Amino acid sequence: MVKIALDGPAGAGKSTVAKEVAKRLQMTYVDSGAMYRCVTYLAIKRHVTMQDETGLSNLANAMQLMFIPSEHGQVVHLDGVDVTDAIRSSEVGALVPLVAKHARVRECLVEKQREMARTAHSVVMDGRDIGTHVLPDAVVKVYLTATLDVRARRRHEELVRQGFTGSVADVMKLLHERDEIDGRREIAPMRPASDAVVLDTSCLAIHEVTAMVVSLCQARM
Ligand code: C5P
Repeated sequence: MVKIALDGPAGAGKSTVAKEVAKRLQMTYVDSGAMYRCVTYLAIKRHVTMQDETGLSNLANAMQLMFIPSEHGQVVHLDGVDVTDAIRSSEVGALVPLVAKHARVRECLVEKQREMARTAHSVVMDGRDIGTHVLPDAVVKVYLTATLDVRARRRHEELVRQGFTGSVADVMKLLHERDEIDGRREIAPMRPASDAVVLDTSCLAIHEVTAMVVSLCQARM
């Protein structure tokens, strides 16, 4: 069984790279950020506040999640409903770090993530604390990063395809706020593991990053 951890801030290219690496190496891809996004999506729908740790952890405990591989990557089913696009909205993006701060929400989701890694034959998991906390024994740990400007431009392109009408500056502000909360929180803050390979993707194309990560994995598998 092989575990690969891919961490880093939003817009560094983690999920695109993780999906491609999983496809090439025939591994299961687990998008841990989607799990925090699903709790946030449910909280908005059910009027649970972002301060209500008990309410949020009840949602995290009860939700039924399925990641289904598809032609374009992965489809996320939450309680039987396809929420793949809905959880990527800018509203969910702005609120998700407030949900992810809560210890009881994290405990519940980390348990689900470890369970997914146990049942998969081999796994590529992306997130913020995979190398440091969720899968500390991962055979390959990569921390992808890029300048805030580059990350904001990449995320802006993605959001515009979904109908977003804001500017790159708006996205930059959102990403900066999210990074601050994710990096400063008390529990499992976003940071590279001491044994992670740190890759700055600012001047690299996604296919170049993917090739680097695949060769790292092949060298260690
Ligand atoms: O990766 P993605 O941008 O979808 O993650 C959304 C949010 O979920 C992050 O900004 C962070 O607040 C939270 N998250 C986390 N730990 C993870 C994955 C995501 O706290 N392992």
